[in-house]
Amino acid sequence: MNPVRHSENKKTGISHKEKLCQYPHVSNEMNNSINGRAPTYHAVITGCGSFAPAKTLTNEELAKMVDTSDEWITTRTGIKVRHITADSETTAFLATEAAKKALAEANLDAADVELIIVATITPEMVFPSTASFVQRALRAKKAWVFDLAAACSGFVYGLSIVQQFIESGRIENALVIGAETLTKITDWTDRRSCILFGDGAGAVVLERVDDQRKGIMYSTMSSDGDRWEALNCQAYGSRYPAHKELADPKKIYMQIKGREVYQQAIRRIVETVTDCMNHCGLGLDDIKMIISHQMNARIIESAAKRLNLPDEKVFINISEYGNTSAASVPIAFDECVSTGKIKRGDIIILVAFGAGLTWGANVIEF
Ligand code: UT7
Repeated sequence: MNPVRHSENKKTGISHKEKLCQYPHVSNEMNNSINGRAPTYHAVITGCGSFAPAKTLTNEELAKMVDTSDEWITTRTGIKVRHITADSETTAFLATEAAKKALAEANLDAADVELIIVATITPEMVFPSTASFVQRALRAKKAWVFDLAAACSGFVYGLSIVQQFIESGRIENALVIGAETLTKITDWTDRRSCILFGDGAGAVVLERVDDQRKGIMYSTMSSDGDRWEALNCQAYGSRYPAHKELADPKKIYMQIKGREVYQQAIRRIVETVTDCMNHCGLGLDDIKMIISHQMNARIIESAAKRLNLPDEKVFINISEYGNTSAASVPIAFDECVSTGKIKRGDIIILVAFGAGLTWGANVIEF
């Protein structure tokens, strides 16, 4: 059974029905398995979309707000500009706009969506979930929905969860969205952090197929709670509730230990991509593109160098967005698809690292 609507993919021009190429070196045993058996169903990405607020903030504009320069930001991070939400633009709004594009490309009615996961650390409100607002906006009445708080790794964690539900036969489709309004929790007086972050959203539709397409072939997720202080925003949870005055008013903003994050990120990205390649029996030639969380161009380039990846297999678009946490991987993925950098049948690796600490990756035959 194949529930995918067989429209032509607007970005790739390839029908979803078209059989995708197989990679003989990737055996079934190397795919994720259920009780040691290869899955009958596969979770295939059938649509993607992204959305960024219209308003932007350039490095030059930032240099008028804090003691920094375009030259420092560009050479240390690769960022040139970031998108900033207006007061009226919320996380659910960005998420919904990205989701509409992904659903249109997949030719899937919102009313038929079974699961919506919104990966975010800047939710609409404490509760209900951002996903509840997205469900409401899309009129996706059939779906069960929740938010996923794994910071920058949220989107790859979300794909991994949907992979399990689809491969087990529990659901036929899902919408996974990464959406953030980080500029609403940015300390605009702290030059070490305010230069880094931006707002945006990206979404994919995953559908169950039982044909030759592999879709998500392998996912891996890891965490290290001992390092929670490296990246955090401490108010207003149960530790620092809103009704109590904060001894340190800075706790309402994101705080980062940049150097620690920098070193950990390179180490974990290299480890995780190596694990993916070993697990799936892939060589560098088999991989079309590594799409990393966009946290700093230098981090991605250092990791790529250690993995011996040539420049053309590493996608970087941080110059246009800054770090958008859970939204960065799906925004980058959507750009790769819409610009033809990745095509149906290509094998790609999505990899992310962020607060928690958390990290993870998905190997996908697109
Ligand atoms: O997705 C995960 C979240 N992302 C992160 O947590 C970011 C990871 N870390 C990084 O990307 C980098 O560590 C940063 C971009 C944050 C900082 O780059 P760095 O090369 O690690 O710089 P640094 O922190 O070692 O600072 C070097 C110098 C310092 O001056 P001194 O002490 O050498 O005189 C800083 O005060 O650069 C100074 N500096 C700045 N100068 C101009 C720090 N921020 C700025 C700034 N403009 N915006």
